[in-house]
Amino acid sequence: MSSPRDGVPCGRYEWRVRPWIHDAVLYQVYPRSFCDADGDGIGDLAGIAARLDHLAWLGVDALWMSPIFPSPLADGGYDASDYLSVHPELGTVEDLAALVDTAGRRGMRVLLDLVPNHTSVAHRWFQRSRSEVDGPYRRYYTWAPGAADGGPPNNWRSRFGGPAWTRDGHGGEWYLHSFLAQQPDLDWRHEPVRREFEAITRHWFEIGIAGFRLDVCYGLVRDPLLRDNPPARPGDPPEWVRLGQRLTGNLNQPDAHPILARWRRLADGFEPPRMLLGEVAGPYFGTPEAPELHLALGFPFRSIAFDADEIRATIERVEAQTPSHAQPAWELSNHDEARVCTRWGAGDVRVARAALVLQMTLHGTPCLYYGDELGMTDVTVPAERARDRARLHDRRPPRDPARTPMRWSGGPGRGFTRPAMAGATWLPLGDGTDVAAQRADPRSTLHLTRALIALRRRRAEELVWGPQELLDGPEGVLCYRRGRATLIAVNTTPEPAAVQGWRGPLVIGSDPDRRGGADGALLLRGHEAAVIAAAE
Ligand code: NOJ
Repeated sequence: MSSPRDGVPCGRYEWRVRPWIHDAVLYQVYPRSFCDADGDGIGDLAGIAARLDHLAWLGVDALWMSPIFPSPLADGGYDASDYLSVHPELGTVEDLAALVDTAGRRGMRVLLDLVPNHTSVAHRWFQRSRSEVDGPYRRYYTWAPGAADGGPPNNWRSRFGGPAWTRDGHGGEWYLHSFLAQQPDLDWRHEPVRREFEAITRHWFEIGIAGFRLDVCYGLVRDPLLRDNPPARPGDPPEWVRLGQRLTGNLNQPDAHPILARWRRLADGFEPPRMLLGEVAGPYFGTPEAPELHLALGFPFRSIAFDADEIRATIERVEAQTPSHAQPAWELSNHDEARVCTRWGAGDVRVARAALVLQMTLHGTPCLYYGDELGMTDVTVPAERARDRARLHDRRPPRDPARTPMRWSGGPGRGFTRPAMAGATWLPLGDGTDVAAQRADPRSTLHLTRALIALRRRRAEELVWGPQELLDGPEGVLCYRRGRATLIAVNTTPEPAAVQGWRGPLVIGSDPDRRGGADGALLLRGHEAAVIAAAE
């Protein structure tokens, strides 16, 4: 079968050769929680390398690792103090090179998470920026005098609560931080900052990193006049409502686009071209002539319920803002929210399984969060073991329950760490399912995930490159067609439902007990999803 990668016309993408990431399945690893090779209770790069068998067996194409750079960990590594090396707890640059090499030999690529919006206060650029008021690093960050009443320069709020400004002793001015005070915002309007990131980008691409996920890249530039943000209104995004203001001065400024287009030219200049995935809310794909991101990892399912209407509306919105030279990306979980089995399923694995069918059959690139292939639920983390200092500052529940170690097997340490460290892992291991138990059970969620990934390949002409049409269905059931003849129904209700008019054999289903396909009607159990090969 041909694919657009070969430059052969296919589906709606007749005109262009697609980048590999458009027919890939991505896998997000939280590095501290995947596998601990050196036995200190914290996962590391050597541990990830040791577990590549699992990823190869699953059939994923690339792994994206949350930040691995040196960091004081005020925000779990999203506060880097050096972009050119590796946090000593995780390993060394040599370990990373070895991981890239081992993954490459198995046909998998490695993507890093880069945080260009802000550094840690411990970064040498900021150290010099705050202490040398007339020095070359001052303009790397946004400094401003206070307001006439002695308060911060404007009303902007930090996304982790409180003002987005902190006054610094040395110069008496205030510096901007869209997140914690330990995460000062870089000023991307300042050309030397852009050049620093060009050098950082080259550095990692030259050692074989296949691309970056760019954290908060829709907030890279802010209103240069630092005008106050207007108050939030009902119906605004949940974050704006929570902060009580519209982040119009901080996000989605038009000047972010040329920055990303320039970054893309740099990535395209490598052979093979490197990929740019962005944490964005909105269209950041540029044009075919001046492209920006390859994929938007904006987590559109983040704050909706497992509800056919809400999922449908989300798919329509995302598709509408994705031009045809780009495509959506679909995450069910990530390190910022409760896992899908907990968030959507309240622990009911049938929901997690149906959601996996959805994720792997939608038009777009699926990005699987480690542990979701097991239907893992959040782990209760006692307050005294909480590590997410950013959320503790915010007084919102810490994000730790979705960041706990992967469980590979039974017994103490669960294959994540050595048995003696079982009670001393960086976050609790929790109880419940593990990889070995699910490998031994052909009905498991792990086997379902693997079969879904294999199906994407087998039916790529339909499930990857084919058009997508949302269909009418019974209430609470999301129905869509991929390609010419692949029908998918996802029952988001706990009640049985019948999709009328469907006929054809079962291709795959979320319920391991399902046998038949559709014979004039598809009869679904509660929270069941099924893929049908439509009869001609
Ligand atoms: C988005 C990341 O996913 C999140 O974990 C982090 O706290 C913020 N960006 C700030 O970097």
